[in-house]
Amino acid sequence: MFPIEKFKNLQTPFYYYDTTVLKKTLQTVTAEAGKYDYHIHYAVKANANHRVLSLIREAGLGADCVSGGEIQAALDAGFLSSKIVFAGVGKADWEINLGLDNDIFCFNAESIPELEVINELAAQKNKVARVALRINPEIDAHTHHYITTGTQENKFGINLDQLDKVLDKLANLLSLKLIGLHFHIGSQLTDMNPFIKLCERVNELQKQLDKRGVSLENINFGGGFGIDYEQPDDRLIPDFKKYFEIFHTHFSARSGQQIHFEPGRSVVGQCGSLITKVLYVKEGSFKKFVVLDAGFTELIRPALYDAHHKIENLSSEESTAIYDVVGPICESSDCFAKAIELNKTQRGDIIALRSAGAYGEIMASQYNCRKLPEAYFSDSI
Ligand code: LLP
Repeated sequence: MFPIEKFKNLQTPFYYYDTTVLKKTLQTVTAEAGKYDYHIHYAVKANANHRVLSLIREAGLGADCVSGGEIQAALDAGFLSSKIVFAGVGKADWEINLGLDNDIFCFNAESIPELEVINELAAQKNKVARVALRINPEIDAHTHHYITTGTQENKFGINLDQLDKVLDKLANLLSLKLIGLHFHIGSQLTDMNPFIKLCERVNELQKQLDKRGVSLENINFGGGFGIDYEQPDDRLIPDFKKYFEIFHTHFSARSGQQIHFEPGRSVVGQCGSLITKVLYVKEGSFKKFVVLDAGFTELIRPALYDAHHKIENLSSEESTAIYDVVGPICESSDCFAKAIELNKTQRGDIIALRSAGAYGEIMASQYNCRKLPEAYFSDSI
């Protein structure tokens, strides 16, 4: 799967994207969503690499953005502004203006003060901004607490008991047009039950809205579909069939209602790996450390969320030994894995950290004055 001879000539660490995997994933997601005419807006936050974005745009997806920078990255990669949605709890005025100037499809708004600002900025431009209300559906996604978003204690969304007040307010904001509701309950969900609960919650909510005479053209269920970090090769392409079937089965869409999703990780996660070289194998008193030339500056997920990425030694076929795998950054949290089995490892071996296509390259930093990693693609390396 990996062109290791080619890797030997490249400066590590770098990201490597398998375009065949990405294209197959895109074919699958568009085919499965297409069965029900669902609209897919790729969550740019997962990976905003220009080539990655361009391939996603070529497959016909829209873009879910959370900042002016992401809107610009999506526009630069050729996404149609009519397929861009803009979410985020703290949209700055310039970011709202960028969305208005480009006539994006929708602002997913999270509070009354935000709605007032979008209204005012739209009025200044003699425009009417399309908005959806991001509702906090109060559903626990049972995922890492840093990436759970749909419970009351989170900063995200409008709480269910405040919806009436927000709708009353909206009636007076004449430069806004309410076109839908938006939800996102968390990320890396592998248990599908929270998605079923979300459908049921939205069904109830629609009944309540009927009583107010409010009917909405668009329902956006956000992202969150998880990937297999343990055994990536067993499920390189996530089971989008199963995922969309859940919504088709459990959500009672009103006639003509358009259904939207914002997958990030499930689209790009498995196509990317962080490729790094072994600098030293250090024998401590109790354990052996593999010291890599990549650290949390290139892939922060293990340090930040205790996330697991499968680690493979691409250079060795020897029997295995037990190692802690660490990076060169001057912090103890710069550790990719503890006490894992790796084929016997030595200085110069090339290592792949798998499933790093989502929230990898995009979350890289320059701490310790390190260089941001390069990216290479399987079809142009
Ligand atoms: N829509 C909204 C409103 C979101 O907040 C997110 C992710 C998505 C869509 C895409 O979710 P996905 O399909 O990728 O799960 N850095 C963390 C993940 C943070 C996710 C934040 N929101 C990680 O590395 O696991």
